[in-house]
Amino acid sequence: MSTPIVTVASNEHHQDLCVAPPVAGVALRGRIRVPGDKSISHRALMLGAIAAGETTIEGLLLGEDPRSTAACFRAMGAQISELNTERVTVRGLGESGLQEPAQILDAGNSGTTMRLMLGLLASRPGAFFAVTGDGSLRSRPMSRVIDPLRSMGAKIWGRDSDEFAPLAVRGQALTATRYDSPIASAQVKSCILLAGLHTDGQTTVTEPAKSRDHSERMLSAFGAQIDLDPDTNGVTITGGATLQGQHVVVPGDISSAAFWLVAAAIVPGSDLTIENVGVNPTRTGILEALALMNADITLENQRDVAGEPVADLRVRSGELTACELGGDLIPRAIDEIPILAVAALFAKGTTKIRDAAELRVKESDRLAVMAAQLQAMGATVAEYPDGLDIAGGATLTGAETDSHDDHRIAMSLAIAALRASGKTTIHRAESASISYPNFIETLKTAIGEVS
Ligand code: S3P
Repeated sequence: MSTPIVTVASNEHHQDLCVAPPVAGVALRGRIRVPGDKSISHRALMLGAIAAGETTIEGLLLGEDPRSTAACFRAMGAQISELNTERVTVRGLGESGLQEPAQILDAGNSGTTMRLMLGLLASRPGAFFAVTGDGSLRSRPMSRVIDPLRSMGAKIWGRDSDEFAPLAVRGQALTATRYDSPIASAQVKSCILLAGLHTDGQTTVTEPAKSRDHSERMLSAFGAQIDLDPDTNGVTITGGATLQGQHVVVPGDISSAAFWLVAAAIVPGSDLTIENVGVNPTRTGILEALALMNADITLENQRDVAGEPVADLRVRSGELTACELGGDLIPRAIDEIPILAVAALFAKGTTKIRDAAELRVKESDRLAVMAAQLQAMGATVAEYPDGLDIAGGATLTGAETDSHDDHRIAMSLAIAALRASGKTTIHRAESASISYPNFIETLKTAIGEVS
């Protein structure tokens, strides 16, 4: 029997993922599926919880983040069935609204859970809420949602001059507002829209570049009045609508497909199809970036599923060229910059990533962490306040690396390891389960190593 390429060593706290490709390399081939979209999963649970009647969800992501959302809304009275991918049922609270929970709401590692939920809590008159998260989330900025909510009259307090969780919220009847957000952030936009849903009048959010629009699409499908202004990237919600439960079909997450797109693009001999991937144009920056790098990717079987565009993505390995990534493209690829940095290592020339300072306030400081971990494998990466320069044509050597408890870092390093010589160990690799519970099994399948 040949030596396994992918192995896992666990102790009671952490998991080490080891990747040791053979000298001849290991191609990725066949057809795979990725788990449900994380952003859509959160929104389906939340809108289902506040809608009247029943919402059913097909294809829900079973990662830790949506589990945090489900736990928070259960604590506020929503009846959510056991989570599974086939069919989750949510009995919404409708007119009666969210109930004051007798416990602290714990958003875990999930910025989306915390920030979107705050819009709903702040606009729930009379109820008190305490909200916290894990160590990473408690160090992520919350003033970006607290400030605009306060401009609507919200009563919210937090640690360190109201910047960080734990947070306390006393729900109020709010006043409609227009908020010109200085950052392109779907979490900020969605928070304010959800506050506006329960506020008389029209609440508008504009942003400097268009961020993912799943909230707008789903709010509309559940019966809210949503108006768009493409000139300002503006979204207006008219308050007062009662949402009606819907059937939601969650497509595969393009942010999870991104690891396989890059893996198959950089590992010679690969030809991989990822089925059923959401290709909403506010999320396809990874495809645009890989096209700029001359990657061979085709969209097959394009269709619309429950209001979201979906396709099968076929990727074949080939020569990549360096490119410059910045501006409006960054919000469309915000979670894919770490794996794009891996692609850049194997392109001809130096790839420059700019306008990506937001990465410093994600689950980890993704610019600093990626630079350090790839350097440990022998890469030449220069760090800038808002980006990275990545030298292509890299020769990577297997090394001891660390995910810093960041799911997207863990998975990006596992893909880089497929092109390194010798063994790479990724410490704290269990973080992958935040967004991709069976990542390791799919990695084994794609390289033909049945687990
Ligand atoms: C998300 C928005 C993005 C993204 C996150 C999910 C969402 O965050 O990074 O993983 O579901 O709204 P920002 O809005 O902070 O950019």
